[in-house]
Amino acid sequence: MTTDNELRDQIDLQKLPAHIAIIMDGNGRWAKQRGHDRVFGHQHGVEAVRQTAEAAAELGVKYLTLYAFSTENWNRPKAEVDALMSLLVHTIHGELKTLNDNNIRLRAIGDLKSMSSEVLAQLNEAIANTANNNRMDLILALSYSGQWEITEAVRTIAIAVKDGTLNPDDIDEATISSNMNAPDIPDPELMIRTSGEYRVSNYYLWQLAYSELYFTNVLWPDFRKNDLYEAIIDYQKRERRFGQTSEQLTNIKG
Ligand code: IPE
Ligand code: IPE
Ligand code: MG
Repeated sequence: MTTDNELRDQIDLQKLPAHIAIIMDGNGRWAKQRGHDRVFGHQHGVEAVRQTAEAAAELGVKYLTLYAFSTENWNRPKAEVDALMSLLVHTIHGELKTLNDNNIRLRAIGDLKSMSSEVLAQLNEAIANTANNNRMDLILALSYSGQWEITEAVRTIAIAVKDGTLNPDDIDEATISSNMNAPDIPDPELMIRTSGEYRVSNYYLWQLAYSELYFTNVLWPDFRKNDLYEAIIDYQKRERRFGQTSEQLTNIKG
């Protein structure tokens, strides 16, 4: 069996993705396989979050975004939504010390005003409490969807045009990027989805333009440090061409 350390040693730290984005999927199936209700799976997903954040920070990843709750997840049964929100409050509260011990800054993207005041209060407290940490940003995508984010950006840009502060001819990709929720964060080089589903489910639609996509059958509650290492090792074997030819990349003169 390959140990965590053996896998970790295969990672080229010079070629680390600065930003890894994860769709944490499969909690419900994990619980069902064990004869429990879906919430049991969400509860066990917390350990995977802890391990993944710690592993990413230890390696030197600068940004880790976790898709925790999508716009569409509001359509789940109320009992599950309520349980997820309550788990969120308790987890953020419970992990605050670990975040600070690991010098991790907590951030959030998404339609946060749709969250309950209880969630918002806990979230804002943790964000404020970790604001000076600088080893890694842990970004929670909450009530988030890529289409929502792009729609919001379009609205902001439209208002600027209407106000006369922006000329439509000056709108370019950078204008759109700068109107995303967290414009300082570079686009993810690597996007990981667990649970064997091959879709992006409205995640980071703008930012995933040139991300490398990695899919694993591991269900989120089972995801551990070595699973993150495997994803990074796979990513490092890929050739990112950005529309160019392979020859152009290997011959610096093009
Ligand atoms: C991911 O696990 C967690 C959230 C979407 C909040 P799921 O709850 O989607 O689990 P599956 O996909 O039904 O197994
Ligand atoms: C995506 O997972 C959202 C999160 C992980 C928060 P879902 O389980 O909601 O996605 P679909 O419904 O399978 O596409
Ligand atoms: Mg799912």
